[in-house]
Amino acid sequence: MANYLTLALSKGRIYKETLPLLKAAGIEPIDDPETSRKLILATTQPDVRLIIVRASDVPTYVEYGGADMGIAGKDVLLEHPNAELYEPVDLEIAQCKLMTAGRENDTSRTGRLKVATKFVESTRRFYADQGTQVDIIKLYGSMELAPLVGLADRIVDVVDTGNTLRANGLVPMEHIADISSRLVVNKASMKMKHARIQQFIDNIRGAIKANRSS
Ligand code: ATP
Ligand code: PRP
Repeated sequence: MANYLTLALSKGRIYKETLPLLKAAGIEPIDDPETSRKLILATTQPDVRLIIVRASDVPTYVEYGGADMGIAGKDVLLEHPNAELYEPVDLEIAQCKLMTAGRENDTSRTGRLKVATKFVESTRRFYADQGTQVDIIKLYGSMELAPLVGLADRIVDVVDTGNTLRANGLVPMEHIADISSRLVVNKASMKMKHARIQQFIDNIRGAIKANRSS
């Protein structure tokens, strides 16, 4: 990790929503990950760099020290329940809900419920807490298709406006968790680079407060 402070985050929604917070904390990337093929981005703070990884890989990079810090959705963190990470800040961005969904008036089912999702761990825990036995089918995307083609009775996915569900003739059913993105920190980095990370956390907290009142 040399002497850099390395922050792991994903392209797209999280990057876009994090950018204003970083800017308010005095950090601006020099390259744009949406147009550059670079995966390591220098910033206007020479000792701070960003690495661009898949959203679901952020906890892995941070836990094993490939990055000092990362930004990940709570939905992704819930899939890594045993990860050795600190989670000091709720960034209050990329807000949505983790929910079950299915076809309205779905009464044709016999036998165990089949649930398609990429959120296997949250799904397993949700139904286990209810005492309901289900068969979980792991998918990597386009979950909404599963009930339409008879692959599953339910899906578990993130929902914001509900447009994706509606467009596919599905309705939201049970609420599993409120989701937003979190700053996560590697435990060794928190010790070894404490002053710099604490300063970063303080700056980001200030930016979130300003965001809230704007
Ligand atoms: P991967 O590339 O690993 O499959 P992804 O495609 O889920 O990840 P994004 O769609 O960029 O990545 O979502 C990143 C995070 O943003 C999610 O983990 C979730 O916390 C949040 N999120 C996803 N969809 C929405 C949405 N429609 N509205 C608000 N936040 C969302
Ligand atoms: C996400 C998620 C849902 C959708 C929910 O997809 O996978 O399908 O948002 O949002 P809504 O309730 O506002 O419709 P996204 O648009 O990020 O595309 P993705 O499938 O590539 O992640």
